[in-house]
Amino acid sequence: SVAELDSSMIHKGEYLHFMEKEIFEQPQAVQDTLLYACDKENNEFSYEAFSMSEKDFRDITRIRIIACGSAYHAGYVLKSVCESLARVPVQVELASEFRYNHPILEDGEIVIGISQSGETADTLAAIKEAKKLGAKTLSIVNVNGSAIAGESDFVFYTQAGPEIAVATTKAYSCQLVAGYIFSLLLAKTKGKIGDEEAHILKEELFSLPGKIQQCLSLDSETLTMAKKLKDDKNIFFLGRGLDWAVSMEGALKLKEISYIHCESYSSGELKHGTISLIEKDSPVIALLSQEELAAKSISNIHEVKSRGAKCFAFTMEDISVEEDDFAQILSVPKTQPLFAGSLLVVPLQFLSYQVSLLKGLDPDKPRNLAKSVTVE
Ligand code: G6P
Repeated sequence: SVAELDSSMIHKGEYLHFMEKEIFEQPQAVQDTLLYACDKENNEFSYEAFSMSEKDFRDITRIRIIACGSAYHAGYVLKSVCESLARVPVQVELASEFRYNHPILEDGEIVIGISQSGETADTLAAIKEAKKLGAKTLSIVNVNGSAIAGESDFVFYTQAGPEIAVATTKAYSCQLVAGYIFSLLLAKTKGKIGDEEAHILKEELFSLPGKIQQCLSLDSETLTMAKKLKDDKNIFFLGRGLDWAVSMEGALKLKEISYIHCESYSSGELKHGTISLIEKDSPVIALLSQEELAAKSISNIHEVKSRGAKCFAFTMEDISVEEDDFAQILSVPKTQPLFAGSLLVVPLQFLSYQVSLLKGLDPDKPRNLAKSVTVE
């Protein structure tokens, strides 16, 4: 619990809020998580970091992810990356729904619980249920010795360090990294990628801390955007594929601490209902980091723009977007598209933090929310 922490570990120091401090700690947290996953002798990602063996990985035929809140969103990123790299099917479920959906788990299906605190009651109960059904369980948690870690067959500890702000930032970023490493190991074990490709992906992962660091200087651009959005009542987030997964987290972050109603929609699904809500000046935030999907998403932007929406883009360097389509375009450094979420999320975190401040709220202690929810 927070009360047990060394006071020097939880000092805000030069920062106004824990949330700001924790956003800035992300390069280190991600770096620490990458190093944690490496075998100290040969510096390769190791099965042992997941407390698993090569055989445990080889035996996996399907994956079920159970989690709540931001951890649930991290699950969608894991799904996208794992299905792409390892070609193993992944299903993501809300922990609070899992038990009541008459779960069917197949032989070889591993259940992965993702949780910062390791104490969330719904996730803990889902892990117990999965065990009862005979599945192997892996938890990706941030707190050593937590209940979810204790209940699981296998554990990977994200190395975010203590996270105090209610709205997660660095722990979510470390969950993404744990998911990338898991996917990479699984892809290698299953022979879906060769040594060379695995090496390139690993190098790219190790370049993430530096690129996240670069994203930390996007705060003045996000402030400009925050000023344009702070008085809105509804904000629409759009994305396709991985961008959709990341937009869920962007929308939740803004909802949690700015009290603005935000929802993320799959770009292609918008026209099947939600577009009826778009009117003059409706704010739409589009995530456009996946080059091969960008053209499709932009045609969805044109649909909302022609109904008067004011659009904002979060994109990656080298992806071409028309300035005329957007009130503001913000771009993150180039990375392997599978890992783009780790960069996009940083300006999304800044945006929600700054909107919260502009509205005179306390981003560290949003109303009605708890850091760890230990009741069902
Ligand atoms: C709470 C927090 C959320 C968090 C969720 C899951 O509701 O307010 O920010 O994402 O719990 O927490 P966990 O500790 O399991 O990741």
